Amino acid sequence: RAEYQAKSMALSDAMTRACDFYKLQLRTAERAKEYLIGRGLTGEIAGRFGIGYAPDGWDSLRTVFPDYDATALVEAGLVIDRTDEEGANRKRYDRFRDRIMFPIRNTKGQVIGFGGRILDSGEPKYLNSPETPLFQKGSELYGLFEARQAIRDAGYVLVTEGYMDVVALAQLGFPQVVATLGTACTAIHVQKLARQTDHVIFSFDGDGAGRRAARRALEASLPYAADNKTIKFLFLPSEHDPDSYVREHGTAGFEQQVQDAMPLSQFLLKIVTDENDLATPEGRAKVQFEAKPLLQAMQASSLRLQIVRGLAQLTQTTPTEIETLFELASPAAR
Ligand code: CTP
Ligand code: MN
Ligand code: MN
Ligand code: MN
Ligand code: MN
Repeated sequence: RAEYQAKSMALSDAMTRACDFYKLQLRTAERAKEYLIGRGLTGEIAGRFGIGYAPDGWDSLRTVFPDYDATALVEAGLVIDRTDEEGANRKRYDRFRDRIMFPIRNTKGQVIGFGGRILDSGEPKYLNSPETPLFQKGSELYGLFEARQAIRDAGYVLVTEGYMDVVALAQLGFPQVVATLGTACTAIHVQKLARQTDHVIFSFDGDGAGRRAARRALEASLPYAADNKTIKFLFLPSEHDPDSYVREHGTAGFEQQVQDAMPLSQFLLKIVTDENDLATPEGRAKVQFEAKPLLQAMQASSLRLQIVRGLAQLTQTTPTEIETLFELASPAAR
């Protein structure tokens, strides 16, 4: 326990120092600054998110860490170790080189990881910190530390896919925004969000990947859906993500999208009916087949009952028949 604490202190300290270094580097990195300006960022917003720049050298971090060979740097994911098994041929180099750096903070505000964006169209577009004792991707939400007060003030949170979506929305009037870091929205993400607010609006990219992400977010949310919670899905035109949309259509344009977001009940019924023919018994049976696991994932609630009623109407059955077929009766009532 004490050893673990000492280790995370060392990791956390390394991350903070690296973050300060990257921020300082951005001041004099003209190409990086031009890139950010080209994407519409102000210095104010870059400062608010601690955005920096990792220089284009193999061991730039040596200037910050005289003890470049310390294992903490490798464990923090800042330095990559390619030393061979015999310990000969020591090869160590910076993981992040010539990238725009987005620090990822935990809810205490400590830097626990980075996302690094390439300045041109090279691959990979984003390079992220590896998982460390401090950083587990499936449970972190980019921007949550910065957004917490704004989420309380707005009464809702926007959940996006990426770094740029968070920064652009925050800059243009929606500071109540976080991102899942490209990974699928997990139950842990939903739990974390539920602790902050009872109104969540998923706002993923308009492309196919974004729509699949929305479907996975729905599945992850179902166990947490409740009568006092509002979960919605915002669907952008296929050529847009939240960043490009708010920059092209402005704050009012995005606000309209927020107003038009689709409630969970409607999205669920849309998913199950989309590719099925409600005019045939087989089609209606298929709709029920697809709805069954989704409704089973929900707690008994008025909301679930409302969805069952909607489904009953669409599939020419009664709510009671659906509850029996889906075995939705609560254990106590059985
Ligand atoms: N992502 C990643 N690694 C990649 C591509 C994407 O980690 N190689 C994550 C990043 O968190 C990224 C998010 O997935 O922000 C969404 O990906 P994408 O929509 O492709 O990127 P954008 O956020 O739109 O980035 P940009 O606008 O800079 O192109
Ligand atoms: Mn995308
Ligand atoms: Mn984008
Ligand atoms: Mn995107
Ligand atoms: Mn448009």
